[in-house]
Amino acid sequence: MKKLYAILLMASVLLSSTSKADEGMWIPLLLKKYNYEQMKAKGLKLSAEQLYDVNQNSLKDAIVWFNGGCTGEIISSEGLVLTNHHCGYDAIAALSTKEDNILDNGFWAKDKTAERYKPGMFVSIVQRIEDVSDKVIEGLKGVEESKRAAKLAEIFKGLTAEAVKGTHYEASVREMFKGNAYYLFVFEKFTDIRLVGTPPQSVGKFGGDADNWMWPRHTGDFSMFRIYANKENKPASYSTANVPYRPKHHLPVSLKGIKEGDYAMIMGFPGRTNRYEFSQGIDLAVQKVNPTIVKLRDIRLKAWKEVMEKNVSDRLLLSSDYASVANYWKYFIGQTEQLKRLKVYDYKKELEGKFADFASTKPEYQNVLSNVEKAYAAYRPYALQRTYLGEGILGVTMNGIASSLFPYVSAVKEKNDTAAARKALAAARAVNEETYAAFFASADQKILAQILENYYNDIPADQHPEFMKTILKSKGKTNTEKFQNYAAMVYKKSLFNNKASFEAFLNNPSLKKLESDPCYQMVNAFYTNYLTKFKSKIDEFNNAIAPEGRAYVRGLMEMMPYKTFYPDANSSLRLTYGSVQSYDPKDAVHFDYQTTLDGVMEKYNPEDFEFQAPQKLLDLYKSKDFGRYALPNGKMPVAFITNNDITGGNSGSPVMDGEGNLIGLAFDGNWEAMSGDIVFDEKYKRTINVDIRYVLFLIDKLGAAPHIVNEMSIRQ
Ligand code: ARG
Repeated sequence: MKKLYAILLMASVLLSSTSKADEGMWIPLLLKKYNYEQMKAKGLKLSAEQLYDVNQNSLKDAIVWFNGGCTGEIISSEGLVLTNHHCGYDAIAALSTKEDNILDNGFWAKDKTAERYKPGMFVSIVQRIEDVSDKVIEGLKGVEESKRAAKLAEIFKGLTAEAVKGTHYEASVREMFKGNAYYLFVFEKFTDIRLVGTPPQSVGKFGGDADNWMWPRHTGDFSMFRIYANKENKPASYSTANVPYRPKHHLPVSLKGIKEGDYAMIMGFPGRTNRYEFSQGIDLAVQKVNPTIVKLRDIRLKAWKEVMEKNVSDRLLLSSDYASVANYWKYFIGQTEQLKRLKVYDYKKELEGKFADFASTKPEYQNVLSNVEKAYAAYRPYALQRTYLGEGILGVTMNGIASSLFPYVSAVKEKNDTAAARKALAAARAVNEETYAAFFASADQKILAQILENYYNDIPADQHPEFMKTILKSKGKTNTEKFQNYAAMVYKKSLFNNKASFEAFLNNPSLKKLESDPCYQMVNAFYTNYLTKFKSKIDEFNNAIAPEGRAYVRGLMEMMPYKTFYPDANSSLRLTYGSVQSYDPKDAVHFDYQTTLDGVMEKYNPEDFEFQAPQKLLDLYKSKDFGRYALPNGKMPVAFITNNDITGGNSGSPVMDGEGNLIGLAFDGNWEAMSGDIVFDEKYKRTINVDIRYVLFLIDKLGAAPHIVNEMSIRQ
């Protein structure tokens, strides 16, 4: 570890005066040491302590991890939180009914009493970050790879318990550089989170899945919540006695506008990247895994869409699941396309070639690439097993419900433990409460038939469960008919086919009854097949590849001592800095950095659900009633792009100018760089942001809620 620091330090010295690619998701704790000079050179006006500090209020105090999957920022002294519409989507849909349809119509609380609590939501604010690498690595000494995960869990438990002792905080340790470093994050977590407002989804999701992951973009992708705390300003469960949280810092909002080249930085919680992936992993993704995910998701999306088109209530129930499955359906299409177009496999091969030369005389690294080759060769034949289980078999809603009874079966059968069995039944009841609300048996039946047929065709016959033979005994001239008839039988006879019979079973459980249920039998057969034959192969692969990945990253750092490395995203707090930048997506085409309301009107199509717009927005456009939010040329700004390095999880993150004022919020990546989670492409990689002026215009003029804007600290 000491060596790693030395390398990082040396690299920062070398790089400090040059301005290069704006790649990198940096750990805030290390900014002062490695990035600060470069940030200043690019236009940062704040001190390093104003970015991150534990002894004084800093930017980090205004950034929240939103519901465990997105980012939000606090923008008033009364705990007002701004995030994306797609981050609030699930809550907004859940708070909507046909009669009070805030998803379609939008909503702005007229005062604090009208804000709407949604159970289950939370935000977490980082209190401090600590480098615990030495402690963790010391504790791992002599531990073999297959025991590493368990040992890590034990070490983490000790460190986090120690870190939060005597406080109400929570803590977690995150692995960095594939296990070459470890950082501890201490959080304060709030659970009384209320919806303050949202534009209608025709604005908040304008462009829908057609425009998703693409620039030029015209989406007002934002929603607003408020954090509530008890009278002592501490986290408390929902209560009408709670009061708005008073943050240590909130971001001022800038109406000054942006131009090409302006400094821009983003702080948030990027989810996952895989920038140190081996070439074999890319080949497997492009050839097998990604196309399979896309195909399996497509089946679900088509069947759900038919349901959603029939009536509003059903659409509201399925909207959130549909949006999240569609989001990564399109992601994997784009990632595959761009991995090919940008020849990422060749690039990785080239880097591995350089590494091989570097490693040839170093025992520590000599065998890395050959071991990786061996591990992939052994794993490749089984690589679709996990995809088919997760995205296929368990992607069928009824199968998911049936599988929630596995813990019950094991409690009864293996442990003969009635208390555990009762607990397992209660858990199954709880998890399926919401599932049944959005369960459409006839669509699900269609999905099952197609998933089974694809499994049959894509997975080698010797990997099928014995049960496949039973399925194929169903009537039918073709396999397609057999799978359809089989699925029809399952949905007709299974106790899981409606909530009432599921609950009747929970109230009067019987192992015998469960084991004779056709849905349970099928899920159990596929799951057991996976567990007994393939899980060990996957574990072997992971245990073989992990130490090589670790050595590879360490070796790359040694090989390129002039370069400052940053760790892959892992849902921990990071900062990325760069500038507002247009780009040329292909020959003779230029994409400007800013879109305007003109573009919304160009795309507007009342016949197309994804491109509608509220009448009031059309009217505001006609009368050019943009108030103080317009551009100098009188147009209304909508979105802009920066070259910041973000990924999923950064959704909702603040884009800030050099003074730490809010200029926008990040909500997407662009199509030409969909391979960005694997390689950052300087030429194409952009972050798509909603312009803060559009946000304020939509609240003030479209939502007629100027009182919310008045809560903010505006800089103009
Ligand atoms: N691509 C965006 C992200 O992952 C989400 C956009 C949601 N919109 C949609 N049409 N599904 O951050």
